[in-house]
Amino acid sequence: MNILILPGDGIGPEISLQLVKILKTCIIYGYKINILYNYIGGISIDKYNIPLNENVLNICKESDSIILGCVGGYKWSNSPIKPEEGLLLLRKKLNFFANIRPIKCPFKNIDFLILRELNGGIYYGKPKGISKQIINSIPSWYSYDTELYNEQEIIRLIKIGFNLSLNRKKRVTSIDKSNVLYSSKLWKKIANFISSKFQTVKLNHIYIDYATIELIKNFKKLDVIITNNIFGDILSDECSLLTGSLGMLPSLSLNNKSLSLFEPCHGSAPDIAGKNISNPIGIILSLVIMLEYSFNDKFLSNKLFYSIYKVLSYGFCTIDMKNYIKNFKIVNTNEFGDLINYFFFYD
Ligand code: IPM
Ligand code: MN
Repeated sequence: MNILILPGDGIGPEISLQLVKILKTCIIYGYKINILYNYIGGISIDKYNIPLNENVLNICKESDSIILGCVGGYKWSNSPIKPEEGLLLLRKKLNFFANIRPIKCPFKNIDFLILRELNGGIYYGKPKGISKQIINSIPSWYSYDTELYNEQEIIRLIKIGFNLSLNRKKRVTSIDKSNVLYSSKLWKKIANFISSKFQTVKLNHIYIDYATIELIKNFKKLDVIITNNIFGDILSDECSLLTGSLGMLPSLSLNNKSLSLFEPCHGSAPDIAGKNISNPIGIILSLVIMLEYSFNDKFLSNKLFYSIYKVLSYGFCTIDMKNYIKNFKIVNTNEFGDLINYFFFYD
């Protein structure tokens, strides 16, 4: 099994280190894992002047799984090409169109998921750009992006949502802005059409603005959320606070082949990078879902999941979680990774 780790920028390297500790324990448990490392994002711009080079893309294609830390940072805010473009290129070039973000917290009885479209919409739609125009005889800047989806892109995503719900509570919630946007009107129509082929699954629709409230008020009713690229990006940050902190959400991206991309949902947190205080739960939970979805190993996946929650139930946490954990005892990133690994190995 070739696992390619792309630590990226900011806190990416330090959280990746914690993940590698756990991967080594998986090797002790019998997994034959070959760990490779490479560059993406700002660190790749520093080295090669581009955020993702062709060689790395080829190594990605030959891997069995890719685990990405995070990309971006102030350092590149004036750079003509941004670290984030490397990540968007990776998602697009390797066809990672379906992004599963499980929102799960046993302390609060939370268990639903966001299925986010990852290859289309306003992130990629053309035309996009920034230009100058004469308005009232004054040269003025204007900028534009395009929320563009074709039927096939919507169908393939929504089908995955319905199929995922078959193994869960058989409830799908589609989030859109169809009271205003054409792209959402088509989305809703297709969701209804696909729903008619899944008689046992219940579909409901919520507008994105009200969805931000439903997530807080009625999250117990949720099971599988399906939504476009930009709404999924925004809602998942909100959901991370439901489970604890921004550092706690993992994600899995699928393409049509068996290759998967795992990444935490959080950003590179350049303000705290290198201080050994970041939260590695997002990236470690990515391994939890890798064990479940890619390796079909429910046993080890559960074991790792409960190792994380065992550490938290003893009160140990990184500083970002102090408001969520009773009788908290703050430990650093490294110690926190060791604690999880300790329970994963000994318990
Ligand atoms: C995410 C991130 C990315 C996104 C950024 C880093 C480009 O926020 O994975 O949620 O917007 O998709
Ligand atoms: Mn995001």
